[in-house]
Parts: sequence; structure tokens; C-alpha cells
Amino acid sequence: MNRIKTLTLAVAATALAASSLTAQARDFRLGLITPPQHLWSTEAKAFADSLHERSDGEHSVSVFPAQQLGNEAQMVQQLQTGALDMAFLTIAEISNRIPDFGALYAPYLVDGVDHAARLLRSDTAGELLELMPAEVGLVGVGYGMVGMRQVLSRDPITSMDDMRGQRLRITPFEPIRDFYTATGAAPAPMPLLEVYDALANGQVDAIDMDFDSILILKFYEQANNLLISNHMMFPMVGVVSGRVWRELSAEDRELIETTMAEHLENVLSGFQEMDAAQEEEIRGLDLNIVEADAEFFSEAIAEWEATWAEKAPMLEALREEAERLRQ
Ligand code: BEZ
Repeated sequence: MNRIKTLTLAVAATALAASSLTAQARDFRLGLITPPQHLWSTEAKAFADSLHERSDGEHSVSVFPAQQLGNEAQMVQQLQTGALDMAFLTIAEISNRIPDFGALYAPYLVDGVDHAARLLRSDTAGELLELMPAEVGLVGVGYGMVGMRQVLSRDPITSMDDMRGQRLRITPFEPIRDFYTATGAAPAPMPLLEVYDALANGQVDAIDMDFDSILILKFYEQANNLLISNHMMFPMVGVVSGRVWRELSAEDRELIETTMAEHLENVLSGFQEMDAAQEEEIRGLDLNIVEADAEFFSEAIAEWEATWAEKAPMLEALREEAERLRQ
């Protein structure tokens, strides 16, 4: 073989090796709906930094908060085609596609954020994640959450009678729609970032919301009656596109899984840590506060259970686990 041919072959081999190396380095894209200052968004950014560092700069993650890539239904479609690599999604959107996840929204399944976090860390909740690859083509890495759901309204709500006819903003998903329909309210599905204007212009009378969002998005400026009901938990799931997952080496999967799980855990523990202070801050605002418990909603709960015990067979196992974890 002459020298030129040998050199040409060597250059080609080097180029091939280099291209297969660079093919493994990835700039992943992660989408989520929360605003940049929300804990989900700051932990998504922290996950991006950790992955970059732990992969020795090989992998990076561009984070797109505030619904920049579309709403959650659109992001799930992008994840399914592999156009989007990762997301932090409310379980709301997942429960629209896998009804068993609706069990996580059983009214008063948990007593508060600590109980919710214990349940979400359990093997029983983990079993739900195993349904995701086959049923929606996503790999569910682990859970996060926000605080418990409350009702903020323009007019006072002191009894179930006051719920009737209220145009009440909900996150767009079926279990919560069924709950509020059973209370006699008129649920109005609406993404988080449209809620402030809808309250301000009177498009809705009340909203289903958590303490943290009420504070950071200043919803209390537009409605000054708060029903502290703690009626549902509100989990989130960190996901990777199944298509993207299949292309990754075992080593990269392990790295992504452990790193993302760590930051999801920070979300769970972060909300556990913030909850009491947020409640205190809210109680210090100039709001009319009424408290409600399962008794307040008893008829609506019975109706919800009748529908969802059938739709979400995992409800029984989750309830047993929640009982074991009650303190
Ligand atoms: C909501 O739809 O109410 C919501 C979504 C994500 C985080 C917090 C609240």
C-alpha cells in the first residue's frame, strides 16, 4: 500500500472514530410548564448542571420552562416521537392517558405533603411508573410534587352550597374534573400560566391551586377567599422519551436516571420543607380563610370513588400503602 493510500485510510479511520464519539455526546432538551422561578424549573436547571458535570462535559441539557415548547399534551407527543428528550410533567397529563395514575388524586388519600412524599417514594407508587414505557412510550424516572390543593375564590366558600355553579379553574385532567363536577361547580380546564388573567378578568370565579403557586404567581391579588382544604396531592414525574432512551448506552441511562432521580428527590423534600412557611405566609395575607376536611366534601368524594375505583384499579393498593404510611 503506498504512503498516500495509508494516510488516507488513517484519516478516514480517525474521522470515523471521532464521529462515533461525538455521536454519543448529546445536547438534550427538557421541557416543563412551570415559570423559571418555580422549584421544578430551578431543579431542572440544577439537573442540567449536574449531568454536564458528571458526564465530564459530554452531555448538556437545555431547559425550556414556562411552556415554551407547548402545553403538556403537546410535549408528550414530542416525547413520543423523540422530538423532545425529557420533561418534568404533572401527573395530570399522564392520568389522561393511563387512568391508573388517577388513583394518585383520590381525595384525602394523604394527610399532607409529608405523607404525600412518603407515598410517592413507595414501591407501590413506583409500580405505576412501570406502566409508562408500554402505555405511553415514556420512561418515568421518579416523582416530584407541589403542595396540596386548595381553593382560592372571589366570593367566600363556606359550605358545599357555595360551590354550586362556581366557574372553577382546574388543571386539565379527568380526576380533578370529576371531583369538582361532583361538588356542583363548573370546572374550567386552564393551564397554570393563564390563570392570573382569567381570575383578573372574571373568566373564572375560583381556582384549584397550591400554596406555592398562589404565592409566586400572586393569585391572592385577584381573589381574597381561601378554602384551606388540602383535598388532593399533586405529583409530578420526571420522564425521558422512550425513543431517546433506546439510543442511549447503559452507562448514559444509569447516569441520567440517578442524576434526575436525585433532583426529583430535591423537589419532594423542597416542598416538604417549604410547606409550613408558605402556609404561615398565606395566613399572614389579608385573606378570608375557611378550613375544610373530607367531611365537607363527603358527597363529592363518594361520587368520585364510585367512578375511579373502577377506572383506576391501582387505587386499592395505593390506599393500603397510604394507610401503612400514615403517621
Ligand atoms: C397547576 O396546573 O395548577 C400547576 C401545575 C404545575 C405546578 C403547579 C401548579
